[in-house]
Amino acid sequence: MPAQISPSILSADFARLAEEARAVDGADWLHVDVMDNHFVPNLTLGAPVVEALSRATATPLDCHLMIEDPDRWAPRYVEAGAGSVTFHVEAAAAPVRLAREIRAKGARASMALKPGTPVEPYEDLLPELDMLLVMTVEPGFGGQAFLDIMLPKIRRTRQLIDKHGLEMWLQVDGGVSAETVERCAEAGADVFVAGSAVYGADDPAAAVRALRGQAEE
Ligand code: DX5
Ligand code: ZN
Repeated sequence: MPAQISPSILSADFARLAEEARAVDGADWLHVDVMDNHFVPNLTLGAPVVEALSRATATPLDCHLMIEDPDRWAPRYVEAGAGSVTFHVEAAAAPVRLAREIRAKGARASMALKPGTPVEPYEDLLPELDMLLVMTVEPGFGGQAFLDIMLPKIRRTRQLIDKHGLEMWLQVDGGVSAETVERCAEAGADVFVAGSAVYGADDPAAAVRALRGQAEE
């Protein structure tokens, strides 16, 4: 699969969200970080803002829910217009049921693992998912340094996906930049979230193209 880039709106100017969403035209997804001050020590935005964003851009929304009780709230983000909804397995009471519900409502279902959460216990669950997100920083904030120690987990996840012949995507999120994207791609990731590396650039759309080029090398 060709590399996909999902710029994280977390590093954009929240006072100009519509404009910032359109500044990355050409991106495959727009990554929307939903935080609730409980699952992570930060608070961002919720379903009403996702709904407004979905009207402001043609780029599909990739919602990353860093919230407690995703079983209750994730379906609401599909209704708000997300094309992909990622919940954290650490917070989900019934991940299989939740993934099925997200798919039944018409979005891609994705599950995220914090750096300390191993992938192996979830091997049998992978066919229920359209994407697995391996976090490469502790979730909560943009602009953190990439955790190199996550590369073996990316590699092992890729092996599990291939072993089962699954079509699912493997996303990385946190510290992805011109310096780290090639290592992630080499380890087997195919969807790359980048916040500060895109929105911190003078030309965000050009930064997206450059990351995609590097990931495909
Ligand atoms: C962190 C978020 C990320 C964040 C990435 O908890 O999930 O999506 O925006 O930002 P960078 O690319 O700056 O590390
Ligand atoms: Zn994220």
